[in-house]
Amino acid sequence: VLCWFYAFPPYRLPSDKQIVQEVLRQGGLWHKNQTSIDLYRKLLTGCCDPKRMFAVTKENSPMGKVLWYDGEFYHWHTVNNETHSLFVQSNPLQLPLKKCAVVGNGGILRHSKCGRDIDQADFIMRCNLPPLTKEYVDDVGTKTHLVTANPSIIEKRYQNLLWSRKGFVDSMKVYGSSYIYMPAFSMKPGTDPSLRAYYALSDSSSNLTMLFANPEFLRTVGKFWKAHGIHAKRLSTGLFLVSLALGLCDEVTTYGFWPFSVGLDQQPISHHYYDNILPYKWFHAMPEEFVQLWQLHKSGTLRMRVGRCP
Ligand code: CDP
Repeated sequence: VLCWFYAFPPYRLPSDKQIVQEVLRQGGLWHKNQTSIDLYRKLLTGCCDPKRMFAVTKENSPMGKVLWYDGEFYHWHTVNNETHSLFVQSNPLQLPLKKCAVVGNGGILRHSKCGRDIDQADFIMRCNLPPLTKEYVDDVGTKTHLVTANPSIIEKRYQNLLWSRKGFVDSMKVYGSSYIYMPAFSMKPGTDPSLRAYYALSDSSSNLTMLFANPEFLRTVGKFWKAHGIHAKRLSTGLFLVSLALGLCDEVTTYGFWPFSVGLDQQPISHHYYDNILPYKWFHAMPEEFVQLWQLHKSGTLRMRVGRCP
């Protein structure tokens, strides 16, 4: 049987309509494939060693170590007294993680009623400090174990924490005692806001633990997907988290990954579940990423939830 991947190789993306048809054709059908799960974990461990490398730790980044920024050419940070003291000793996650939910921010989550499903996972990962207010709880759930934060959010939403440290710390309370995962060493302008976020949290006896994303890990994950045909300037946050989850979790389910403007009933879908602000056009390649993730869904490696939860 000609599989979809060969019918629509990555260099010619199917149209939104074809994707909707394909997802509808597959329906709720999904079979876990342990062989494929084990294979992917092995591949990701081989390329990227997520267990040891996903965060900057005292163990993988001793004093004097040069951290090369992954989002920029020829910028580096040499680990010094100040930065070394901010790193966790070693990977703090209790491995292996069992059932993981990776929650993207796609508008497909709106009215999905997936909140309960998501909250039942053992480890829940979210992207970019998303809103978890009352109006969204039924659709996205309440629990979080790891949440990413882009330094640009610290700059824009919290004025670089020059005046609004309390506002920032208070708004982080919805994430409970989770890990906050920041790419502090990806782009040069992101380092300072990330360190500020660290200090704002540690000065306030917050329950969150800051983890800095290891630029070496991000670079190797980027290369891994490039070899699988994803040609973007940078992978989306969601795909980094799915890669991490495939490396660390026994089972992975994704929610809110749907970078298309129509849903399964042809209804209009906003870009995010909380707004319709579109990303820079050529920066990410989310539809290409979706095609890859859908292949993993079809092969039983992970489960993608698209549309309403049962
Ligand atoms: O920072 P970035 O633009 O990557 O992410 P975001 O807009 O905050 O959304 C988080 C993640 O959800 C993205 O990185 C994508 O992987 C995924 N997403 C999606 O698949 N479809 C959408 N319409 C929006 C987000």
